[in-house]
Amino acid sequence: MSILVTGSNGKFGKNSIEFLLSSGVDAKSIIALVRDESKGKQFQEKGINIRIGDYSNEESLIKAFEGVEKILFISSSDFENRIEHHNNVIKAAKKVGTIKHMIYTSFFRKEEVEKSGNSSVAFVSKPHIIAEDLIEQSGINYTILQNILYTDFLTDLFFGEKVLENGIFFPAGNGIGNYASRKDMAEAAVNILLDEDKQKHLNKKYVISNEESSSFEDAAKILSDISGKTLSYTSPDIATFENTLAGLGVPSVYIQLSVAFGLAIQNNEFNTSKTDLSSLLKRKPTTLKQFLNETYKKQ
Ligand SMILES: NC(=O)c1ccc[n+]([C@@H]2O[C@H](COP(=O)([O-])OP(=O)(O)OC[C@H]3O[C@@H](n4cnc5c(N)ncnc54)[C@H](OP(=O)(O)O)[C@@H]3O)[C@@H](O)[C@H]2O)c1
Repeated sequence: MSILVTGSNGKFGKNSIEFLLSSGVDAKSIIALVRDESKGKQFQEKGINIRIGDYSNEESLIKAFEGVEKILFISSSDFENRIEHHNNVIKAAKKVGTIKHMIYTSFFRKEEVEKSGNSSVAFVSKPHIIAEDLIEQSGINYTILQNILYTDFLTDLFFGEKVLENGIFFPAGNGIGNYASRKDMAEAAVNILLDEDKQKHLNKKYVISNEESSSFEDAAKILSDISGKTLSYTSPDIATFENTLAGLGVPSVYIQLSVAFGLAIQNNEFNTSKTDLSSLLKRKPTTLKQFLNETYKKQ
C-alpha cells in the first residue's frame, strides 16, 4: 500500500503523517508531497518517501502520483489560485490511473446558506464546492470531509497573542459554532485511510464538526478559569473592529478575513447538529475547554 499526503509540510499534513506512523503504518508506505526537497528532510529522516510537486504544475503532480494507491488531498492554502490548484491535483490523480481512494479536506457549509449565495465566507467555500464536483465527476473513489472551522483558527487568528491579558475582542456576536480541532480532523482522515473495511467510506461526504457548540462568551469564561482573572468578551461593531485593528497596524487582508469569519459566526454558519467526527474517531471530539487548556495552560 502507498499513501500519499499532499500539503504534508503544513499543520494538517504533519498531524496526519504522525497519526499514520502512530497507527503502525510502515514509514516506507508513506509518501509526503512537498514543494521542494528542503521541506522533505524532516520526513526522510523518519524513513518516509518524499515526492516533489506543486499544485500549480500538473505535470509535476502526475510524476509525483505515479503508482500511488491512496491520497490524502489536503486543500490548497492559496486563496487566489485554489480553484486551479485543486483542478490540477484532480486531473493528475485521474491521469495516473492507480489511485483507488482520494480523501479531500473540504469546507463545511449549510445547505440553506449555500443556496442563498449570501455568505460572507463564500469566497472560502466556493473553491471547495467546485473541487467536490470535480472529484465526483472524476470517477476516482473519494471521501469528502466537510471540515468545520478549526478551533485552532480561533486561537491562532481571532483571539490574538494577548488574549490572557486583554480578553477577546472579535465581532462574532452571540454566534455559536461546533468548532473542531485540526488534530482531531487529521486523526479522522487517517482512520478513514486505514479502515479495514475498504468499501465503507467510498464515495461518501462526511460532516466533520464537534458535538458541542460554543460561543465566544463560553471561550472567555474558560480563559478566565485558565488565567485566574476575569476576561471579558467584547463583540465590537464592524467599523470599530476594523479601525481598532488598523490602528494597531494589523494588515488589511487579515482584518478583512476576520470580519468575514466574524459575520459568518454571527450568522451561526458553523453551528450544526450534523457530525460524523465522533464515529470516525470512535470517541468524543476534543471540547473547547480541553483545547483551550492544552493551548494556554503551558504559557
Ligand atoms: N477548516 C478550517 O478552519 C481551515 C482553516 C485553515 C485552512 N483550511 C484549509 O485546510 C488546509 C490545511 O490546513 P493547514 O492548517 O494544514 O494549512 P497550512 O499549515 O497552511 O498548510 C497548507 C499546505 O498546503 C501546501 N501548499 C500550498 N500551496 C501549494 C502549492 N502550490 N503546491 C503544493 N502544496 C501547496 C503548503 O505547502 P508549503 O509547506 O510548501 O507551504 C502547506 O503544506 C489549508 O490549506 C486550507 O485549504 C481549513
